[in-house]
Amino acid sequence: MIKSSAAILTNANAPLFVDSIDVEGPAFGEVLVEMVATGICHTDLTAIKGVNTSCVYPAVLGHEGAGRVVEVGPGVKGLRVGDHVIPLYGPECGVCKMCLSKRTNLCWSIKSTRDRGLMPNGTARFRWRDAPLHHFMGTSTFSRYTVVPEIALALIRPDAPLDRVCLIGCGVTTGVGAALHDVRAGDNVVIFGLGGIGLNIIQGARIAGAKSITGIDLHCSKGTLARHLGLTHFIDAAAGPARVHEEVLALTGGGADVAFECTGNTAVMRQALDCCHVGWGTCVLLGVEPSGTEMAVAPVALRYGRTLKGSYFGGVKGRSGIGKFVDLYMEGLLDIDSLITHRLPLKDIQRGFDMMVSGESVRSVVHFE
Ligand SMILES: NC(=O)c1ccc[n+]([C@@H]2O[C@H](COP(=O)([O-])OP(=O)(O)OC[C@H]3O[C@@H](n4cnc5c(N)ncnc54)[C@H](O)[C@@H]3O)[C@@H](O)[C@H]2O)c1
Ligand SMILES: [Zn+2]
Ligand SMILES: [Zn+2]
Repeated sequence: MIKSSAAILTNANAPLFVDSIDVEGPAFGEVLVEMVATGICHTDLTAIKGVNTSCVYPAVLGHEGAGRVVEVGPGVKGLRVGDHVIPLYGPECGVCKMCLSKRTNLCWSIKSTRDRGLMPNGTARFRWRDAPLHHFMGTSTFSRYTVVPEIALALIRPDAPLDRVCLIGCGVTTGVGAALHDVRAGDNVVIFGLGGIGLNIIQGARIAGAKSITGIDLHCSKGTLARHLGLTHFIDAAAGPARVHEEVLALTGGGADVAFECTGNTAVMRQALDCCHVGWGTCVLLGVEPSGTEMAVAPVALRYGRTLKGSYFGGVKGRSGIGKFVDLYMEGLLDIDSLITHRLPLKDIQRGFDMMVSGESVRSVVHFE
């Protein structure tokens, strides 16, 4: 058992509470990781707001981190003390039906325990005030020390700066991966929501050779960084859905070849589908909706050739696929540095969430060292 500083969420809508917790050593197939840095993603906010069904309280949130292996449990074969790793909320066991399929990056081998805030053997490694404390998304990167199953850790090259490539644990891979999956050279791309995910879709769309990249957001300030990353047109969402629709059609010559939704708002999901080009436009949903909400779809929109789909972690199989994104960053082809608008010590993590909500930040990175 070791002591660790961690941000604890005691209940929905409570402020994060930074305190010392106890972390048990790794059980079979598990690894103890010392986090160096972690990003703050909107999905963590859904847990704070109480609209994420897979958060069991009290919990340690966080899923966008990078760190070093401190101890390996029995049965761990592929990782050693000192290795640099990125925790994965989507594991890759490599042997299940889904891992063996080329059609998906999902691996549900440990989903049932992960979604109950537990390690695969059904217990938690965290304790706080003598009671068990839950894991979140199987990663819990808001703790200096965290335990993660080996199948949910990507080994990365040792020269990559951990306080930057931590964003590859979610935002970068989700956005860039989704764009590389669906955008073809010459496409007119439209993106709803220019936060950490939307900005990375811009980067992926640019690499894929998009002809135009139009972004829509409620905050005009998001347009500046977006243009730096490759955005060609910005539309202010405050103009209202009808005006946004008109402008998208005018800018794309009749509709988007690919539209991405990165807000988690089901009305915006419908807007994204409606602005796709008739005959072939593809709408890709990335936002996490409040649990239980549904999206309205006019079947005719699909009958007339549009495709509606979703994307999880950019369609990337974590352990085998993440290295490519680290390489793209190290080669200067992906910009992560500009996405990190704020750096905070763990004790100020709540401010990171406040700045996400107000729109002041793009990505805040929390440091443990
Ligand atoms: N599919 C996945 O694998 C995956 C991974 C990570 C995050 N997510 C989800 O993606 C979404 C975006 O995450 P993020 O970290 O980029 O969030 P973020 O808060 O950084 O960005 C969201 C952006 O959407 C904008 N926005 C909000 N309402 C809008 C509207 N009506 N019209 C236009 N813009 C609007 C906000 O101003 C903000 O810039 C969240 O729902 C998150 O939970 C999904
Ligand atoms: Zn995330
Ligand atoms: Zn698997």
